[in-house]
Amino acid sequence: MVNFKINIDGISKFISREEIKLFENEAISNFKKIVDRTGEGNESLGWVDLPENISANLIAKVNEEANRIVAQSEVIVIAGIGGSYLGARAVIEALSPYFSKNNQKEIIYAGHNISEDYLDSLINWLDNKSYSLIVISKSGTTLETAIAFRLLKTHLEKKYGKDEAKKRITAITDAKKGALKESSNIEGYQTFIIPEDIGGRYSVLTPVGLLPIACAGFNIEKIISGAKNMRKKILESTEVFENPAFLYATIRNILYNKGKVIEILAQYEPKLFYFCEWWKQLFGESEGKKGKGIFPVSVGFTTDLHSLGQYIQEGQRIFFETVISIEKSKNALKIPKLKADFDGLNYIADKNIHDINSIAEKGTSLAHIDGNVPVIKFTLPEINEENIGEMLYFFKFSCALSSYYNDINPFDQPGVEAYKSNIYSLLKKL
Ligand code: PA5
Repeated sequence: MVNFKINIDGISKFISREEIKLFENEAISNFKKIVDRTGEGNESLGWVDLPENISANLIAKVNEEANRIVAQSEVIVIAGIGGSYLGARAVIEALSPYFSKNNQKEIIYAGHNISEDYLDSLINWLDNKSYSLIVISKSGTTLETAIAFRLLKTHLEKKYGKDEAKKRITAITDAKKGALKESSNIEGYQTFIIPEDIGGRYSVLTPVGLLPIACAGFNIEKIISGAKNMRKKILESTEVFENPAFLYATIRNILYNKGKVIEILAQYEPKLFYFCEWWKQLFGESEGKKGKGIFPVSVGFTTDLHSLGQYIQEGQRIFFETVISIEKSKNALKIPKLKADFDGLNYIADKNIHDINSIAEKGTSLAHIDGNVPVIKFTLPEINEENIGEMLYFFKFSCALSSYYNDINPFDQPGVEAYKSNIYSLLKKL
């Protein structure tokens, strides 16, 4: 049983149910490539059964390490980029309150840019904080992460001395290879392994995501349990209207073939901003190959209705929209009624703000559909650990499935090497 629901009323003007049904066999064949491990990139399918296979022992070790890190730190720095960064940040930001962090430790990020200003400010700010560092890199050689790690390791050693610094560094990397693995062995850092058969953007349910999330005070068992429920849902039916991943992947590809080459993921809850960043990386890096693929972008509504809204309504008709809709609010904040109705808002007085946001969502979707933008809607009752776990698994599976519609290997990223080799040659790396 999953809480996540998919509503396709907003595409009925563009695609018929019969058209979707015609793709069922293709969906089944792509599904088999994943579950029977026969598709391209099948050496990277470790994430498929991970929610079932993850051991209680590993979860306990992650929680134990998180407790140790939290006990010794005011601030925890997570250094990583791409798949070694976005999953953790997506979940932490989605689950954290906007302002008061209560007893939560401050989680900050590094290694995801090469801004001197950012890194210099970070180091100066950390001078007066007690902190620990979690460094995450599967290859162990990524430039952005390696630069941040070198700076922070040096800073920690200067601030605490070499022995204490070692206790404040935890490395998450490959079991055997890479510079980070090597330095962890030499220095004796506490280390977690990224399984060989799970690539960066599919790794959020490994220690890559779980350790930072546990440090932020969230229940990783519940996230895994949500992912497990979604896995069960996706594996139990090959009927296209019963299987949410079949339905999403199929609709995306039908729309793509009709010229809708951009997918806009829209959220109405700003704490989902990084969830959308994670989604963009997942789909962009998985599908954008061989001159093909839907270009993934994201918007935060209603904020972006005042910027990109105009284009979405009336610009080129080349996109479709996928909305993440949250049914319930944790609060009960209402519009106050004022005697002097100076702003004319008394017509919505006593209405809950969340209800107004939901009405804005409904009105916007209807306008976009009228403007020839197909809308797929995903609904979650609320943002919590289980529901986030469901979404993480849902999008990973759908992404792999969707890539196979276009004969794309969802698990490699050959194009990322081009910019890297240019940087290295410009920097005269030997
Ligand atoms: O999804 C991917 O594979 C990439 O985004 C990587 O996660 C990213 O490039 C970071 O790589 P690494 O973990 O090797 O530092």
